[in-house]
Amino acid sequence: MSISIVILAAGQGTRMKSETPKVLHTISGKPMLFHAIDAAQAVSDDVTVVLYHQAERIESEINAHYENIHFHLQDAQQFPGTGGAMKGVHTKHSRTLILNGDMPLVTEASLRALTAGDADINMSVIKLENPSGYGRVIIENGEVREIVEQKDCTPEQLNVKTVNAGIYAVNTELLERYIPMLDNNNAQKEYYLTDIVKMAVEEGRTVHPVFVEEEEFKGVNSKLDLAHAEEIMQRRIKEALMMQGVIMRLPETIYIDCRATFEGECILENGVSIEGHSRLIKAHIKAGSVVEDSHIENSDVGPMGRIRPGSVLKDTHIGNFVEVKKSTLTGVKAGHLAYLGDASIDEGSNIGAGVITCNYDGKAKYPTKIGKNVFVGSDTQLVAPVTVEDDVMIAAGTTVNKDVAQGELAISRTPLKRVKNFFYKFFGEN
Ligand code: UD1
Ligand code: MG
Repeated sequence: MSISIVILAAGQGTRMKSETPKVLHTISGKPMLFHAIDAAQAVSDDVTVVLYHQAERIESEINAHYENIHFHLQDAQQFPGTGGAMKGVHTKHSRTLILNGDMPLVTEASLRALTAGDADINMSVIKLENPSGYGRVIIENGEVREIVEQKDCTPEQLNVKTVNAGIYAVNTELLERYIPMLDNNNAQKEYYLTDIVKMAVEEGRTVHPVFVEEEEFKGVNSKLDLAHAEEIMQRRIKEALMMQGVIMRLPETIYIDCRATFEGECILENGVSIEGHSRLIKAHIKAGSVVEDSHIENSDVGPMGRIRPGSVLKDTHIGNFVEVKKSTLTGVKAGHLAYLGDASIDEGSNIGAGVITCNYDGKAKYPTKIGKNVFVGSDTQLVAPVTVEDDVMIAAGTTVNKDVAQGELAISRTPLKRVKNFFYKFFGEN
């Protein structure tokens, strides 16, 4: 059955205490609203996002990453509340699923479960020991009678432990009729979407509770919630990757962006961060290393290596305290303490300890090109733009500020001066 989806994301998110709109805060590298959009697009070709607070910013962020998303601007001044958000929204299919934009952990499978069956309304319900903060769901004979918002509850209703998770699959025809009928006669003077349940029950329609996992449907309202959601998302990502064949030492210490991909047998040691759209193929990332938006194939990095965006490493060994940025290294060894930025380095080349590409002159960035079988001695500075051809030796401590031709030795050194007995003259004889 085809279904339309409306994602409510117009709320202010005051409790987030942030300049950034709540739904743009990221979880595992992706805005939480995008997690909801991804789940929605997996089950529907008709997805509408309702916006109000910082609408322009959120809309342009969405448009930069997605096509075919419809937008609706809530008239939140006149019609505040979740019901107000639905005013003027029209959807394509005969059934409409309404989601909250601050629920990044909802899975495609749960959305499908909510759309199953033939009740007029399916609504998500969670059983909670502490129901505080949620609308209480009054269930009789297995069907929903009413949802009462916490602020409107009688003392008896406050004890009800079945709560509204805030997701509903509704016959579109009912929505079209009920939404214009909503009023704001309640404690918060808001238009409550939840009132459609009462209307449906009064008309003798079936409102079916679908019991869902608390973990998936918990809304993210504060930075504390954000951190908890991150933990859950990380656990999911890592469990799936380990089942796929990635080895992780102490996985609870590892961070992996949801957009990163792994092929072949990869090993991640403790304390590793894999960020952005990184692609790892048969890679071994050792303890304490950070990889950002890079391609690492048949290579090892670290411990404590840093591979910054735009790097491509193939058949390469990167040792401790080596930073690589936007560089392509093929068949290279860089074992210790180096900075390689805007560089391309070819097969068989060895980068000594303390080698630095001076890629920035304070105004612009310049490339360094190193050919095959180049031995770059320790503490060499490569002043870019500079090209070192194949089969070159660069002596330790050299400042390479001119291109070096194939087969050459490059050496720049101040001659060593030795002063006899200087130590004793300076400190005195004992
Ligand atoms: C809502 C439910 C409550 C449920 C809870 C689950 C109502 C009246 N109450 O309460 O029963 O237990 O969710 O989390 O629906 N939004 C708009 N426009 C608005 C107000 C909100 O788009 O004017 C969006 C928010 O961005 C958010 C979602 O709707 O994504 C839920 O809003 P929120 O204010 O968190 O609703 P609650 O009061 O928590
Ligand atoms: Mg809420």
